[in-house]
Amino acid sequence: MTWKQMFTSSVGKKLVMSFTGIFLILFLIVHAGLNACIWAMDGGVMFNQGAHFMGNNVVPRILEIGLFAGFILHIVQAYMLTIQNRKARSVGYAVSYGNAGSKWYSRSMALLGTIVLLFLIIHLSHFWFPNRSHQGFLLGEEINLFDTMKEVFSNLWVVIVYVLGCISLGYHLAHGFQSAFKTIGVHNKRYHAMLSGIGYTFSIVIMLAFAMMPISFYCGWVS
Ligand code: HEM
Repeated sequence: MTWKQMFTSSVGKKLVMSFTGIFLILFLIVHAGLNACIWAMDGGVMFNQGAHFMGNNVVPRILEIGLFAGFILHIVQAYMLTIQNRKARSVGYAVSYGNAGSKWYSRSMALLGTIVLLFLIIHLSHFWFPNRSHQGFLLGEEINLFDTMKEVFSNLWVVIVYVLGCISLGYHLAHGFQSAFKTIGVHNKRYHAMLSGIGYTFSIVIMLAFAMMPISFYCGWVS
């Protein structure tokens, strides 16, 4: 497959979606792991140290550029594939098999992805943008992210939006995790059950871990 086909053919687009999706899954693991330091009950010292390393070291800052490129590629290819699939099936199916053919969340990936994108824009405007603009977008003194979280998550509506964003992410991953590995060829009868099990467990753990963060701040379970 040529580089051009990688971005223009449907198979190429699916491959780009899978590789960027797996990259974003790795980011979520690191992000949830670092954020879990909020539960250290040390006034945010450990969390702020981790955030300081991520925000002030050249390697994570270069990886940050890759992360945003990954997000953009994943989103653009997803919308192009959705449009392409809709055009190819413009008449629609005569019979809808509902959940018997596939799960509702597998058929709603574009909608769930759009909700996650809206959540991401709100989320970046709460933390990433104020922090980076304070730093002048290069390396430099950051804001106290733990205190910022305390303030942001003292608003119930914000907590509700975050929890809904995390639930959408969970369902998006419930299909996306397995689909990404299947597309790159990790799929046969022997691995099918294992891949499904890991995919569902991962989606639930990530959804609960992230959703519990705003809830914990709101309920005063972290200090
Ligand atoms: C719900 C609990 C979450 C909390 C409390 C949280 C907290 C944070 C904080 C404090 C930052 C700022 C880091 C910095 O400026 O150095 C950040 C950045 C970021 N978050 Fe989250 N996050 C959560 C969930 C998510 C989710 C579910 C996603 C993805 C869908 C996500 C994607 C990002 C991205 C892309 C960045 C910018 C990464 C960077 O370059 O540093 N976050 N988050």
